[in-house]
Amino acid sequence: MTDPGTSTSTSTSTSTSTSSDAARERGESGVRQVEARVVATRREGAYQYMTFAAPGVPALARPGQFVALTVGGETSSLLLRRSFSIHAASPASEEGEEDILDLVIAPHAPGTQWLTTREIGDVVDLVGPLGRPFPIPRERVACVLVGGGYGSAALFTLAMALRDRGCHVELVLGAATEDKLFGAYKADRYADAVTITTDDGSAGTKGWVSDVLPEVISRSQASVVYACGPMAMLESVARVAAEAGAVSQLAVEEAMACGVGVCMTCVLPVVGNDGVTRMVRSCVEGPVFRGDRLRWDAIGGGRCVVPDDALGAPTPAVPSTPVDGGVELDRRAEDHDDLVSVPTGLPDGPPESVVPDPHAAGTPAETAVDEPAADDGDRAPDAPRSAGATQTATSTEDQR
Ligand SMILES: Cc1cc2nc3c(=O)[nH]c(=O)nc-3n(C[C@H](O)[C@H](O)[C@H](O)COP(=O)(O)OP(=O)(O)OC[C@H]3O[C@@H](n4cnc5c(N)ncnc54)[C@H](O)[C@@H]3O)c2cc1C
Ligand code: FES
Repeated sequence: MTDPGTSTSTSTSTSTSTSSDAARERGESGVRQVEARVVATRREGAYQYMTFAAPGVPALARPGQFVALTVGGETSSLLLRRSFSIHAASPASEEGEEDILDLVIAPHAPGTQWLTTREIGDVVDLVGPLGRPFPIPRERVACVLVGGGYGSAALFTLAMALRDRGCHVELVLGAATEDKLFGAYKADRYADAVTITTDDGSAGTKGWVSDVLPEVISRSQASVVYACGPMAMLESVARVAAEAGAVSQLAVEEAMACGVGVCMTCVLPVVGNDGVTRMVRSCVEGPVFRGDRLRWDAIGGGRCVVPDDALGAPTPAVPSTPVDGGVELDRRAEDHDDLVSVPTGLPDGPPESVVPDPHAAGTPAETAVDEPAADDGDRAPDAPRSAGATQTATSTEDQR
């Protein structure tokens, strides 16, 4: 996974699968925790483009995966890691070169403000690559890649991988304003056609990516639409893709507290192949989900709720029942374990529900991507999902 357009990249590796496969052959599967050193940092519009030397991570990374960084320094009260999509990953190809990761970071609140003010030589603790990558079609189909704001950063190595596969690739990049567009200046090197939108018309077509998407899908005869960006944008992309008969593969940016599958704060309702909705962790079972499998009726308006029909959804409260000579027991208290320890129903391995089904009829996005080796130590398939985790914040923006 390399980015030839990245000035700091030092590798000459040519394809995502090649570097990942080589790493696997060396037994380097899974996730790494490393001290990542800033080797370059520069402003790009509203974002900070940061390049890190991250030993061992780039060779394992595939399009759509992310890393989680500590912020604030050793004595910081900012305890949670912050997650960022991998924009480019360049494994060292010769002695003397370094393993390079490029991230695109929006200074947002204290954590990202701290991170984006790191200087060359500063070191940050980094875990990755995390999550499941975008699946790559087996056939040479046409694909449209839609990015909103910094979400576009996740799409450039995907575009490279798709072109390596022989796919026709079109990019649609959108943002609220021109300075929040990411990668527009270099997009034509990664795609056969590029469409730009901004909410205020300061660059490209005035409007949202979903306004231009029907025409782009129709013109390109796309079978697969990939997207990364705010939830509201992803919902629009899923709808437009479905209306056009295309499969959508969406990378969500749900708030993640741990990023490695233990806290359950990132759960989303996803419909499985068996038609059952399960709450699944977007950090390990995602962040890429098929758009037609996400329960949009339960995600939206900045909130995510557990649908009543989801596996393990809390049951309605049972009225108090007099027992033992009139002593009333609060059945809800008695059933407390059931209410707070809702079984997720997730198997030990990756649930079918979120792994693109290569055999599904009418699914052009048949995947040839090896699923990343799951680190079972990071998984908590039987961990309780607290009642408090039934609502998580999601973005209400349409595009940044
Ligand atoms: C997979 C993924 C990829 C991303 N890629 C990028 C990227 O490429 N570039 C970029 O700029 N940003 C990206 N983000 C968003 C980025 O992680 C946030 O902007 C960043 O965490 C904000 O940190 P902060 O300290 O500035 O903000 P704050 O809002 O102060 O802190 C955010 C922290 O609080 C946690 N948090 C907030 N709400 C909740 C909640 N409801 N449940 C659990 N935890 C919560 C977050 O997980 C995070 O650790 C990505 C997020 C995800 C999940
Ligand atoms: S962020 Fe903790 S389980 Fe996903």
